[in-house]
Amino acid sequence: MKDIYLKEAGELISFIEKSPSRFHAVEAAHLVLNGAGFQELDIKEKWKMKSGGKYYVTKNDSSMAVFIVGNKPVSNAGFKIIGSHTDSPAIRIKPNPEMTVGETYLKLNTEVYGGPILYSWFDRPLGLAGRVAIQDEETGKIISKPVKVDKVKTIIPSIAIHMNREVNSGFTVDKQKDLLPFITSIEEITKKFDLKQMLSEQLNVEKERVLDFELYLYDMAQGQIIGLDNDMISCSQMDDLAMVYASLKALIEAPVGESTKIAMFFDNEEIGSKTMQGADSPLLSSILERITLGMGEDRESYLRALENSFVISSDMAHALHPNAQEKHDPTNKPLINGGPVIKISTNFRYTSDSESAAYFESLCKLANVPVQRFVNHSNERGGSTIAPITAGRLGIPSVDIGNPMLSMHSIKELCGVMDHHYLIKVFQEFYK
Ligand code: CO
Repeated sequence: MKDIYLKEAGELISFIEKSPSRFHAVEAAHLVLNGAGFQELDIKEKWKMKSGGKYYVTKNDSSMAVFIVGNKPVSNAGFKIIGSHTDSPAIRIKPNPEMTVGETYLKLNTEVYGGPILYSWFDRPLGLAGRVAIQDEETGKIISKPVKVDKVKTIIPSIAIHMNREVNSGFTVDKQKDLLPFITSIEEITKKFDLKQMLSEQLNVEKERVLDFELYLYDMAQGQIIGLDNDMISCSQMDDLAMVYASLKALIEAPVGESTKIAMFFDNEEIGSKTMQGADSPLLSSILERITLGMGEDRESYLRALENSFVISSDMAHALHPNAQEKHDPTNKPLINGGPVIKISTNFRYTSDSESAAYFESLCKLANVPVQRFVNHSNERGGSTIAPITAGRLGIPSVDIGNPMLSMHSIKELCGVMDHHYLIKVFQEFYK
């Protein structure tokens, strides 16, 4: 495997390691952007922008837009947008989570976020990360801080096969009973454990000022490059942080051009996007309109800009499974390391049409990268993603694409090392 491919795969793994929650993913992007000369805008303030300026803005700590303003009027030059999502299926800690078993065991109450493959969450060390709402000592205002709780290293233990003989012929998970992480077996700790107290110590604030939290379990085992030729990446949350990272990297390295170039990272794709920071919110349309107005153009220019724009909606795609070929379409079987995948659905659960797909294919040709197509096996319903929502809201032509992946929504997902490199090249071509 070429060194450059391995270097980029290593960078992706390290970005994901810094992103145990969606809030950390936004923070990790924030650090990369500060280092690359991008300026943060406050979503509540008036934006002053200049041609060629590089900016980013966040919404509710978990969605983010990064952009480079073009040097031609936006009404004609339009927006070049790559969309992806920061959230992944997960297990969240409920409020008042402490549950004891007898006098000694302590476990935490949880709730499932999105659609994880639940069996993959058993028997592996899990950490705790997310954000905490704190009352600021000086202003009295409520502020949020990302937190990775150092002291919690937990696990969801399986039931021994001797007590569950049917386990290998179909395992039904009771979400309220089976998914509670076991956090200590020491009676003295169990007796006085208080999660808010632990958070207050970690953040170095008084307990009374820790008002609330959004904490999720995450996989503590680092991602790895595997395969006989170091050809595959096994890592958590690649749906969709692999696309977040690829588009971020491409945008940072992009030159200033005529169009305004945007990488948009949405939260809440995994639960249908209907939140104030999700794709089914005014977030993207507001940002596009504010960029237009911030450059001294008017609403007519904004509406024309939409007609001159393009969205690449990037979310992972299903690769041919070596042990389940019957699940795939008979003539369209994307392979790992076969290049990015254009996703097509006649019922428009994906937005690609023949014109937008042809455009994406032409970008791949220019970038000298192979391209593949995915359609569902006709008896499989398949998934959907952010673009049908943004296309429905904004009317911008778009294509749904993603890198081929196995084990989608497992705690460890599997992708190709070469595909990651290919897609960065295609994104760079789009942003040229
Ligand atoms: Co996804």
